[in-house]
Amino acid sequence: MGLFDRFQALRGLLDDAVAQYGANPFAVKMDRVLSPTEAIVDGRPTILAGTNNYLGLTFNEECKAAAIDAVASEGTGTTGSRIANGSYALHKNLETELARFYGRRHAMIYTTGYQANLAVLSTLAGSEDYLILDADSHASIYDASRLGAATVIRFKHNDPTDLDKRLTRLAGTGGNKVIVVEGIYSMLGDQAPLAEFAAVKRKHGAYLVVDEAHSMGVLGATGRGLAEAAGVEADIDFVVGTFSKSLGAIGGFCVSDHEDFDIMRVVSRPYMFSASLPPSIVASVSAALKVIVQRPELRTRLWANVNTLYDGLKRHGFRLGPTKGPVVAVHLPTAEAGIQIWSALLEAGVYVNLALPPATPNGTALLRCSVCAAHSRRQLETIVDILTDIGYRCGLLGVPAEAAVA
Ligand SMILES: Cc1ncc(COP(=O)(O)O)c(C=O)c1O
Repeated sequence: MGLFDRFQALRGLLDDAVAQYGANPFAVKMDRVLSPTEAIVDGRPTILAGTNNYLGLTFNEECKAAAIDAVASEGTGTTGSRIANGSYALHKNLETELARFYGRRHAMIYTTGYQANLAVLSTLAGSEDYLILDADSHASIYDASRLGAATVIRFKHNDPTDLDKRLTRLAGTGGNKVIVVEGIYSMLGDQAPLAEFAAVKRKHGAYLVVDEAHSMGVLGATGRGLAEAAGVEADIDFVVGTFSKSLGAIGGFCVSDHEDFDIMRVVSRPYMFSASLPPSIVASVSAALKVIVQRPELRTRLWANVNTLYDGLKRHGFRLGPTKGPVVAVHLPTAEAGIQIWSALLEAGVYVNLALPPATPNGTALLRCSVCAAHSRRQLETIVDILTDIGYRCGLLGVPAEAAVA
């Protein structure tokens, strides 16, 4: 058996996609990115609606200027981890700013959001403890559970009753119970019932970690995420998040009030054994955090755009994710249909994400559209029109009334 033989089915699916439709959905090359919402792909002007760039800050002038200044003054990279030569004043300042933004005593930053989850979750729950995960958790949360030594228990997605049942079964066992949920789920765009989870956590004396990767900057009066929106921040022991979405860069963070928080700096491997963020990124994230605080109208614009895309697609009969939000997921019948529709969209000048099992819940194929504050109404209406046209041509939608009459 060859080294990669077990991936042959996947290779076949992707080869067929290229042969039939001319594109591999997981290998799109952006020839040139022009703005948060436009790129040239395969020589064609393309609307970007699959980027996680919720507030459109990748081209923000203050963020770009801060990054350029930092390169000029501090160089291109740190070449070392935070426990060696990679802790600059910039890193410490960003941690102070994040702690202040969340109203918490402590903050730590990591080189990616993926590493933030690896580091925090593998460290919080040791071999005597339990890591209790929502079944639809992001890959980084599952991977953290493999890196750590805790017993891993999954509960039904967004189901506080099932969580309660599983914690009840653990009553009397020693060890800490660490529950992990997400603010907005990355594939279907639905939100955790956080107030109910908080009540279960209190009942069982467990800890609650919320990954606000997709909800920071998007939810809550000041953009702190779902915990703020649900009014349960006091019940959240650790907030994890990323700089690669609303903040328009790369990196991850964790904030908490836990008095021993800082010990994680010398015991969590993904923090200790990976080079720290380059000065340019830290500076642009600092600037982006200020923009989130100073320009709440970006969040207002984002939600107006969410309404345009979600309501527009719903009106035409698409089956969407259950909750309105910046991740708008369109259900597709099969992976093959997904590849066909995704390719037709790209050819018509619209880039979205195609999400296939096992990355998706319940083995479904999804077109995952993400909305940006910088989208114009016209861009969003164009996406709705093009997708509707393709939906009818591919048989995903029924025959339109006019065509049926004709
Ligand atoms: C819920 C969640 N957590 C963590 C991550 C990892 O973040 P990053 O891509 O910034 O490493 C992602 C990325 O999509 C995510 O969706």
